Amino acid sequence: MSKELETHGSLEPKGTAERDTEYDIDPLFLERWSPRAMTGETLPESAYLPLFDAARWAPSSYNNQHWRFLYATRESDEWGTYLDLLFEQNQAWASQASLLVAIVSKTTYDHNGEEAHTHSFDSGAAWQNLALEGARRGLVVHAMAGFDRGAAREALDVPDGYDVEVMLAVGEQADPETLPEPMQEREGPSGRKPLDEVVAEGTFDSLDGD
Ligand SMILES: Cc1cc2nc3c(=O)[nH]c(=O)nc-3n(C[C@H](O)[C@H](O)[C@H](O)COP(=O)(O)O)c2cc1C
Repeated sequence: MSKELETHGSLEPKGTAERDTEYDIDPLFLERWSPRAMTGETLPESAYLPLFDAARWAPSSYNNQHWRFLYATRESDEWGTYLDLLFEQNQAWASQASLLVAIVSKTTYDHNGEEAHTHSFDSGAAWQNLALEGARRGLVVHAMAGFDRGAAREALDVPDGYDVEVMLAVGEQADPETLPEPMQEREGPSGRKPLDEVVAEGTFDSLDGD
């Protein structure tokens, strides 16, 4: 196990230049974005296991750590199974990923078996950790809700009491020209709503916009 920072790809997925913040925040938040163009290059475990390591340090209710991560590398026998779960629009670009991941979330607490209302929220925190660590290492980490949840549960043998939350495409960034035509134009870091549309002191009606 190496604790040296390993970075990947010559095109780093940096969103910083196109993104404006209202305050001075850590550049990593701006550097992470969701490219679709990937090289399909084989990644060693040392490239992607640290992303899961970062993910598991997310906070969670009762420190229950609801998240589970299942993955297939493009060289593995399971690659086709994972790829088939994606909707066609996602298959069109995610087929060039190096790794496909399914994030599964335990819906109950370990300590009392009761329903955990925060399980998706907590697993969402883990996804963000994973994505930020990926960005730090120059990797694309692109989340996808566009997949067949029922088929994923069956194909990945996910038992009752666990939800399949999201799938991820992980890989080295490639030139946008490698994407199918209509996707090339959309390839770039997106902006965000202004702070006063999403933050307000007091009650909901103080928000600008909603
Ligand atoms: C839970 C979740 C599901 C998403 N599903 C898809 C998807 O199915 N296909 C896709 O191309 N992008 C998907 N995205 C990417 C979002 O469109 C993207 O994160 C958003 O537009 C913000 O852009 P950024 O990640 O580049 O900052 C998803 C993102 C999240 C967090």
